[in-house]
Amino acid sequence: MAPRPTVWLDMDPGIDDSWAIAVALSRCSVQGISTVAGNVALEHTFQNTHDVLQVLNHSEIPVFPGADGPLLEPLITAKAFHGEQGLGDYVADASHIPAILADTPRVWSRWAQHSTGVSDTHLIATGPLTNLAIGFLAFPELRSAWKSITAMCGALPGTEMDKAKEFNVYVDPHAADVVFRYGARVQMLGINVAHKALVPIRDLSLLPQYGKTGRMLAKMLNFYTIEARGEGGNPDAFPIDDVVAVAAVSYPEIFQWRELPLTVVREGPLRGTVVISPIDVQRPAVKVALDIEVPEFLAWLWESMETYRA
Ligand code: RIB
Ligand code: CA
Repeated sequence: MAPRPTVWLDMDPGIDDSWAIAVALSRCSVQGISTVAGNVALEHTFQNTHDVLQVLNHSEIPVFPGADGPLLEPLITAKAFHGEQGLGDYVADASHIPAILADTPRVWSRWAQHSTGVSDTHLIATGPLTNLAIGFLAFPELRSAWKSITAMCGALPGTEMDKAKEFNVYVDPHAADVVFRYGARVQMLGINVAHKALVPIRDLSLLPQYGKTGRMLAKMLNFYTIEARGEGGNPDAFPIDDVVAVAAVSYPEIFQWRELPLTVVREGPLRGTVVISPIDVQRPAVKVALDIEVPEFLAWLWESMETYRA
């Protein structure tokens, strides 16, 4: 397994994002978290991130707000999966946090100016890619600033139609296309692989042994599995897409990849579908996830949770 990587998380917590934060803190050195509108509105994804970090005893991790909506399209949320405020039935007892008047792309730009060459930081994006796209367009030096960019988004081109329009790309197809067009060292963890790494419903009973973290996640997942149970084709299991994106950086050996130039259908009935870009358009190759070793992923997941054992 790879050594403890340094990561920045860009996300829309969100219930699977919240579990991804817990696992990332267990497996990686988390430099910071930026939030984006997606599963729920930005005010909630920003507050939720603070609330989750407080339960995880990591309120020292800086959290920056990002875009409050897609580049061009109106925001579409996923409240059926994540609840009105984004954490299902979990109600935080955290205090309301002051809004930071520092936008994520500018924070990244200042950070990049102080990093000599390619940094050792991996960026993991588990929401719509709006922040990254704004960053790439406003500050071109950000396009190659990270050691790698792992985006939980999209689906391997040619995947069955029902998975072809994944939420993060569907919400902001223009942003995803900008990232595939300009990003360096981008890897796409699509829903075709995330929906292979399913957690058995019976494993929810394991969570309370992990203290307040486990109890928080149990409350969230009891809500999340109402809708998510059966996604991926097994009625007795559910996907945790964003946690799989953390595994792609922390435990890359269990994945298979293929390099492809990608673009995104941005309008019409196929909006949000990731397709192979014509070679002569000169897009960089994106590493696209093809497969995952599921037993090894599940063992890694529960071993990650040992950090929180009461
Ligand atoms: O399609 C799954 C993705 O959309 C996950 O990141 C989930 O949190 C939602 O943002
Ligand atoms: Ca997400």
